Amino acid sequence: MCGIVAYTGFRQAVPLLLEGLKRLEYRGYDSAGLAVISEGGKHFCVYKQAGKVSALARALETNGISARVGIAHTRWATHGIPNDINAHPHLSYDGEIVIVHNGIIENYASLRQRLEEKGISCRSDTDTEVLVNWIAWYRQQHPQKPWREILPEAFRAVEGTFGIAMLVRSMPDVVILVRRFSPLLIGIGQGEYIAASDATAIIPYTRRVIHLEEDEVAILSTSRTDPEIFSLREKQRTPQVEYIEWDLATIERGGYPHYMLKEIFEQPQAIRDCMRGRIRQEPLEVRLGGISSVMDRILAARRLTLLGCGTSWHAALVGEYLIEQLARVPVEVEYASEFRYRNPVITPEDVIIGISQSGETADTLGALRMAKERGALVLGITNVVGSSIPRETHAGIYIHAGPEIGVASTKAFTAQLTALSLFALHLGASRYSIDRNLHDTLIENLIEMPDLVNETIHSLNPQVQALAEKFASVSNVLYLGRGYNFPVALEGALKLKEISYIHAEGYPAAEMKHGPIALIDEGMPVIVIALRDSLYEKVIGNIQEVRSRGGWVIAIATTGDKEICHYAQEVLYVPEVPEPLSPMLTVLPMQLLAYYTAVIRGCDVDQPRNLAKSVTVE
Ligand code: F6R
Repeated sequence: MCGIVAYTGFRQAVPLLLEGLKRLEYRGYDSAGLAVISEGGKHFCVYKQAGKVSALARALETNGISARVGIAHTRWATHGIPNDINAHPHLSYDGEIVIVHNGIIENYASLRQRLEEKGISCRSDTDTEVLVNWIAWYRQQHPQKPWREILPEAFRAVEGTFGIAMLVRSMPDVVILVRRFSPLLIGIGQGEYIAASDATAIIPYTRRVIHLEEDEVAILSTSRTDPEIFSLREKQRTPQVEYIEWDLATIERGGYPHYMLKEIFEQPQAIRDCMRGRIRQEPLEVRLGGISSVMDRILAARRLTLLGCGTSWHAALVGEYLIEQLARVPVEVEYASEFRYRNPVITPEDVIIGISQSGETADTLGALRMAKERGALVLGITNVVGSSIPRETHAGIYIHAGPEIGVASTKAFTAQLTALSLFALHLGASRYSIDRNLHDTLIENLIEMPDLVNETIHSLNPQVQALAEKFASVSNVLYLGRGYNFPVALEGALKLKEISYIHAEGYPAAEMKHGPIALIDEGMPVIVIALRDSLYEKVIGNIQEVRSRGGWVIAIATTGDKEICHYAQEVLYVPEVPEPLSPMLTVLPMQLLAYYTAVIRGCDVDQPRNLAKSVTVE
């Protein structure tokens, strides 16, 4: 949530900050702003307003301000409605400090009261303005102290989460960063620093980064060759410079009208990259280097718990089917947000696996931290290299899907399914619980999967586009699936809801009779995943129940299945693969349908209302 970018160096700061905000806008987009210290100037120039980054950029077009240092922010509101006053940056009451902030100051009300007692009031409704005033007030009390002492002392009274970038009027070439929970990276260039809440704003300038860790402060100044990094607590460390693999082309739209469409079409590559180097021939086997050091503990576990939120939780549900079938270990799947607050029974024999594209989702990270404290082995299945989950877990598997920028997750989902399939196969083989033929067949099919996904997307694209014309005017859609494809029904409904704002529900097909069937009337669209698999006959029965009540059935069926045409009014074919791998194909028409329906309805596909890509608040 919220994107932060900060700069100090030799370039013009305003265009660089605006460019950075555009790249970070998927993190939040209800208001935007920036602050710079003009060259030779003694005061901050702060520009901020409700609305998107493009509106801020237009407002600054003729401004022509020359500055080499600045901070900027794109907001996803938590405290205070999205308006000009609540937009970041926030200036301290004495005009000495300006900050942008990602996160939530949980005790802002008591800090605000303490400040009011000292005669210091806030103009906005935000927790951020309280924070900047608190820091400024603290500093006024200790004018002789260096920032290295002021910040740890001032932050002792602050509760909550924060990724902060700030400028101080008396140090015109300096940017200060503070991090608790909300991620911040420092990009290290030649004579310049670009800091941001994620790598997409940094990559155009440098790929050398330092990840700021929990409770760390960085003071970036062009008059020093290295950033000064210290902890708010006692523990200090020597920061490591890391190298980001992603290049600029992967974070641009590359001719596609939206990131979401680009990412749908990138799925063959994402799946291929997820498998790269992990499948050995003769004998066929899966190797997962990221978890090899903890394999003994995984094999000793009596159960595995998979955690996630949203689409990642849907991937976890498919993971449950895969692991239980192939490795014969009991699996529980939990919403991270529920798991962490219900005092679950966790023992050192437990293995808890957090699934998260961003690696930053607050609830998933919080749940993993809690499980780790209670002695469990915690693993991460993540996409963003160097994000908080892989840094804080004992071991894990990167999905290597490349940057996912569209707010609706697509390629991360199929790459998560790939990683989970590899994990289930590896575990099954290590436990000798999987039949060798099935093991080899699944691996051979996985190797074919990128090509099958590619064919499926291209062959269904025109048909789904035409179908979307009819979908654009519907108000409710039911998605049904069974077995491996029940979680896909949930995912299909989520995709449609989040980007086209059409109400949709996903259900296990057989559950329909226990309630949702009451919704079905003449013409109600029902998307049914009806593959030629072990549950085919049963799903046909469910389709008939829908048809006899006037429902409009769109079936996702196995290529070559003619019989399905007797039951469904519209059929979207996907190639036949073994059941455990079928979700990687059945989800594709659903992603395309959600995308085209949203486009026809004029929705902002990459930045749907009220959503943000990386949910770093609870
Ligand atoms: C839906 C979507 C969200 C995310 C969820 C978890 O399209 O993108 O539901 O899946 O916010 O995010 P990660 O995977 O980053 O933990």
